[in-house]
Amino acid sequence: MSRVWFNFLVSCVAVAAFLTVSEAAIIRLNCEYFDGNCVLKNVYATEDDRFKEIRNEGYRDSIEFFDCHIHTLPPIPYIRSVKADAINLVRIEENTFSTINKLDVSYNRLREISATAFEYPTELSVLILNGNPTLKDFTFLNKLTGLTALYMTEMKLELELIDINTFANMDSLERLNMSDNRITSIPVGMFSPLTRLENLDLSRNSITKIAAGALAIVKSGPLVFDLSYNNISIIENNAFLSASRINLRQNRISGIGPYAFDNQTGLQSLVLGGNRQLKNFDFLHNLPSLHDLDMSNMNFSFEGLPRSMFDDLASLASLDLSYNQISEVPIGIFSELQSLNSINLRNNLIKHIEFGTFSMRKYDLIDEIDLSYNQITELNFLVFVPLKYLKTLLLHGNKLPYVNAKQLIRNKSLQNFGIQNSLVRCYDLVDLLGHLKLVLEQNEFISHLPNVDGIECVP
Ligand SMILES: *[C@@H]1O[C@H](CO)[C@@H](O)[C@H](O)[C@H]1NC(C)=O
Ligand SMILES: *[C@@H]1O[C@H](CO)[C@@H](O)[C@H](O)[C@H]1NC(C)=O
Ligand SMILES: *[C@@H]1O[C@H](CO)[C@@H](O)[C@H](O)[C@H]1NC(C)=O
Ligand SMILES: *[C@@H]1O[C@H](CO)[C@@H](O)[C@H](O)[C@H]1NC(C)=O
Ligand SMILES: *[C@@H]1O[C@H](CO)[C@@H](O)[C@H](O)[C@H]1NC(C)=O
Repeated sequence: MSRVWFNFLVSCVAVAAFLTVSEAAIIRLNCEYFDGNCVLKNVYATEDDRFKEIRNEGYRDSIEFFDCHIHTLPPIPYIRSVKADAINLVRIEENTFSTINKLDVSYNRLREISATAFEYPTELSVLILNGNPTLKDFTFLNKLTGLTALYMTEMKLELELIDINTFANMDSLERLNMSDNRITSIPVGMFSPLTRLENLDLSRNSITKIAAGALAIVKSGPLVFDLSYNNISIIENNAFLSASRINLRQNRISGIGPYAFDNQTGLQSLVLGGNRQLKNFDFLHNLPSLHDLDMSNMNFSFEGLPRSMFDDLASLASLDLSYNQISEVPIGIFSELQSLNSINLRNNLIKHIEFGTFSMRKYDLIDEIDLSYNQITELNFLVFVPLKYLKTLLLHGNKLPYVNAKQLIRNKSLQNFGIQNSLVRCYDLVDLLGHLKLVLEQNEFISHLPNVDGIECVP
């Protein structure tokens, strides 16, 4: 069959191209075959031109337009996929497609996609509309109920201007990307019917708040929300129902309702980094499944916060508190974190570590502590000895003048030690060799100054 179509196309004379605007023409499309795909090159067609129909006489896996400039897509025969990106498309007319599985029309100038463009609309599984800022009427989406992935980034979208039921029947939709638009608010109910959704990307918009119910989707299994780089200041109670990961990096969050995340949410990963005004953390008590928490770069300190703030995070394995204003770490603040493996306190203002700071009531699983780039000038290395599983201790960039090797290697679990960019004596470092691996900071090996294995030291 494919040979028939091949012959048909090859026998067509390539009449296309180089027409002046005033002369309408009937253009024949001449495939070049590449890996079994039909590639249409250098086709130029204005609004007035018409195409000779590509008859569905054979099966090719895909059609790709390359270096073309086409106002309206020609009728496409039965095909798996069409790639028609960046060809200056303006319209997709009725009955353009028969059966098609994947369509990429990104980075065009689309103004209109006919509601009857697809003869078999439910067959379409993947639709890429990115970079068509002039597309405003989305009625055509109503019939595309078989979509599993829909990409709508860089389109200057505002959700209030889209019918709230646009996605209501997309029972199979797993991936929806609306990153980099002009979304300021999320209409309650617009996304809740998407019970198969696994990934919703709303990053790089101007969303100001997540209202109650706005992202309440009930489903089991993974569900990732990317809300980073917005303008979110408030997250109301019951904003989320199911979620496995929520990225809220770089917003302006000042308040999160204590029940913003339902305690059935199953949330495993929460990124709050870069929100510099958040002061109340009561919502952390409702996250029994949370595995990793990023609270870096939040202007955070423990001052004025209850010592019980982390107490209910029974599954938390990784806690990132780096790039904050922490000067004191209250004793007991981590004591209920029975699953904690690694804690990052890099780039804070910590001067002192007391005995018991990292001790756990139930299990002690701490494997890695990063205290680099604080203001520690004096340290009793015995405070780390009780940590049975501590494998990595990073103290880069403090003002420690010495390391007590005997104390540090007293517990055999410690394997990696970081002490670059400090005032440590070469004598101490030599004492550590043979017991520990001295780890370099971001591979910066010092060779032009006194050093031990690339770590600068005071002779
Ligand atoms: C969404 O699209 C943006 C821009 O094309 C891309 O950077 C991002 O990785 C996509 N998100 C997902 C979850 O694939
Ligand atoms: C974020 O919100 C503030 C007011 O709440 C506004 O002044 C600012 O322009 C917004 N920024 C963006 C990028 O939308
Ligand atoms: C979840 O919260 C409700 C009240 O909001 C409470 O009755 C229930 O015990 C909580 N469940 C868990 C697992 O914490
Ligand atoms: C950081 O927090 C302090 C007090 O906790 C406050 O005075 C200051 O304005 C905050 N800075 C920013 C950038 O929010
Ligand atoms: C050090 O770690 C080991 C397990 O590797 C543990 O048995 C021991 O009690 C710890 N403390 C000391 C002081 O050795």
